[in-house]
Amino acid sequence: MNPNLTAGHVPPADTIQLRIADAASLASVQPLWNALYMHQTAHGMVVSIPANGFALWHDGLRPLLGRFVTVWIAEAEGRPVGFLCGRERVLPGYFGGGSVGFISDVFVSEAHRGCGIGRRLMAAAKDSYRAKNIKRLELQVVAGNPDARRLYLELGWRDELIQMVQQIE
Ligand SMILES: CC(C)(COP(=O)(O)OP(=O)(O)OC[C@H]1O[C@@H](n2cnc3c(N)ncnc32)[C@H](O)[C@@H]1OP(=O)(O)O)[C@@H](O)C(=O)NCCC(=O)NCCS
Repeated sequence: MNPNLTAGHVPPADTIQLRIADAASLASVQPLWNALYMHQTAHGMVVSIPANGFALWHDGLRPLLGRFVTVWIAEAEGRPVGFLCGRERVLPGYFGGGSVGFISDVFVSEAHRGCGIGRRLMAAAKDSYRAKNIKRLELQVVAGNPDARRLYLELGWRDELIQMVQQIE
C-alpha cells in the first residue's frame, strides 16, 4: 500500500491528473458515484437510486464511451478522487436541432474539494465540446445545492428551466 494514502493525507492539487475513462477504468469511479448520489439525496433529490444503480449506470454507459459519452477521472497518486460524466445529445428539430454537451454527473471527494479539481473537470468537458463545435452545454443541479450552483454561476452558467416534480400516491 502507498503510505501516502493513509487517512488524512491529501496530495497537492498540482499532482492531480485528469484522464479519460476507458472500458476498464470506468468501474473505478463506483465509490465516488455512490457518494455523489448520497449527496444529491441529502440535498433534496427525490428520485430513489436502486441498490444496483451504479451497475446500471456503468453497464449503460460503457458501450458508449468514446462515442457519445466521455468520463473524465481526476486521480491523486493513481486513486480516483473526482469524476465528471458528459453525454452528447441532439436537440429536437423544433428546438433548432444541433448537439448538446450534457454534464450528467460531477463529484469531487470531500477531502479534495476547494483545490480546483471541479473547475478542471468542467474545463476539460467544455474544451472537449468546444473542439467538437458543440455550442450548447446543459446540466441539472439539485435546487438545495447552493455550493455547486455558486460554482456553476462563477463558471458562466445561467438558469434556464426549473425542473419540478411531484410524487403521486
Ligand atoms: C461541486 C464540486 C464538484 C466542486 O468541486 P471542487 O473541486 O470543490 O471545486 P473547485 O475547487 O474547482 O471550486 C471550488 C468552488 O466550488 C464551490 N464549492 C462547493 N462545495 C465546496 C466545498 N465543500 N469546498 C470548497 N468549495 C466548494 C465553491 O463555490 C468554490 O468556489 P471558491 O473556490 O470560489 O470558493 C464538489 O464540491 C462536489 O463534489 N460537491 C458534492 C457533489 C456535488 O454537489 N456535485 C454537483 C452535482 S450537480
